[in-house]
Amino acid sequence: MSALDKVRIIELPKICDPRGNLSFAEGGRHLPFSIKRVFYIYDVPGGECRGGHAHKECSIVLIAVAGSFEVRLTDGKREMTVLLNRANRGVLIPPGVWDTMHDFTTGSVALALASHPYEEEDYIRDYDEFIEYAKSLDH
Ligand code: TYD
Repeated sequence: MSALDKVRIIELPKICDPRGNLSFAEGGRHLPFSIKRVFYIYDVPGGECRGGHAHKECSIVLIAVAGSFEVRLTDGKREMTVLLNRANRGVLIPPGVWDTMHDFTTGSVALALASHPYEEEDYIRDYDEFIEYAKSLDH
């Protein structure tokens, strides 16, 4: 089983209300980890990409809380693309998966819930290095 097989779509609760809708996420209940960090990406100029890395230990759940964008995911052999366009739907990106976010619509906001605090040593930012790392996971 490769890391890509652990990618999951996560449906979050949506409380519909004439005053506006509400969604929420609890670590360990809706997400398979405790939330140690939250970050968000916004004001993305047209045509820009974000991400372009993998993690060794950290899992991330990405949610388009406003607008939409696509997430391209690969384990170095196979790839898949997920469209995020609903505020109550996320994608679980496990460690060992390279992700790139692209095709952001104007005004979109990408919310990321992470299993680990920020540690630069946990990132693989070089794609060739990632391919070598992914091969080492196969053994
Ligand atoms: P980066 O990981 O390149 O962003 P992307 O999500 O597009 O891959 O992060 C951009 C900068 O922000 C980089 O200098 C590291 C810093 N950063 C933190 O300090 N803490 C964080 O939690 C994150 C996600 C990034």
